[in-house]
Amino acid sequence: MDHPLLSHRITGDGAPILLVHGFPLDSRMWEPQIAAFSKRHQVIAVDLAGFGQTTTAHPPTHIEDHAFDLAHLLDHLHLDRVTLVGLSMGGYIALAFAERYAHRLSSLVLANTKATPDTPEAKQKRDDNVALVEQKGVAALASVLVPSLLSKRAPKTLVQKVHDIITSQSVEGTTRALEAMRDRRDTTHVLKALEVPLLLVGASDDALMPPDVTKGMQQAQPESELVILEGAGHLSNLDAPEAFNKAVSTFVDASAH
Ligand code: MLT
Repeated sequence: MDHPLLSHRITGDGAPILLVHGFPLDSRMWEPQIAAFSKRHQVIAVDLAGFGQTTTAHPPTHIEDHAFDLAHLLDHLHLDRVTLVGLSMGGYIALAFAERYAHRLSSLVLANTKATPDTPEAKQKRDDNVALVEQKGVAALASVLVPSLLSKRAPKTLVQKVHDIITSQSVEGTTRALEAMRDRRDTTHVLKALEVPLLLVGASDDALMPPDVTKGMQQAQPESELVILEGAGHLSNLDAPEAFNKAVSTFVDASAH
């Protein structure tokens, strides 16, 4: 496994916000957030190893490796602390980051994610998807996944954009990430022990992480704030960008005081 310096896009000035994308996407999924947050923040949107422009011969096979890569990037950028926003797989990585590098968080946003590990059925599905990608390519996975990523009201242009981002990913990056998600540990203890301000974002139409999952996370960490975005699907930042941005900026502003 390699630890390349993550390809990243930096926009704006101010208290830094680090955006960590979901599977199997890259920093392009954060365009509405980069545009909004960079007016008052330094926004860093990464391509995790094996995704987007961060090409590597040996992408990580453990969620913790991705967390290490984020810490390495913060060192490179001389950033002590950030607000970390992780969506779905990005949330799994954010919790692994919080376990080891809590001192580098000023606040945390976990969107459309969970702290619990894969069930045996979910692990089997990961293996099926690895086989699908190896045999038929990433486009075959895109056809299966895209309908579950956005709400039914999502415009065709957005559906196409998400499809295009997914089909541009590599077989190697996609399959290794499936294995890393399959093997990830339960991080409920990390969630429970968090001492930094935490915002949990769920979405009413999230087929992969239904609102009850997000509400369950709040029960594990009652100090957290909870927002459920009405009408949004799994990629809530793209499906309901204005509501997502408002929830995150209100939270970031409040936690800065
Ligand atoms: C994601 O959006 O990152 C994935 O749906 C997460 C997962 O498959 O567990």
